[in-house]
Amino acid sequence: MIVCVCNAITERDIDEAVADGATSMQALQDSLRVSSQCGSCSGCAEACLERALSERGPARPLPLVATSESLPA
Ligand code: FES
Repeated sequence: MIVCVCNAITERDIDEAVADGATSMQALQDSLRVSSQCGSCSGCAEACLERALSERGPARPLPLVATSESLPA
């Protein structure tokens, strides 16, 4: 389903953005530009965001990763 006609953003695009870590409308606007022109899609985009977040479940903590810079020599 097309959510944002101005930017050709689909519900699937929003699902993928949420799977990649988006948790807010600002994050969707930054990554997809949804609701960045006429704004008439903002309500639908927010509903899609909320649905995608609820289906994703609770956020998991990021794994701790050691880098060569963070390890003692
Ligand atoms: S329909 Fe999304 S900005 Fe116009």
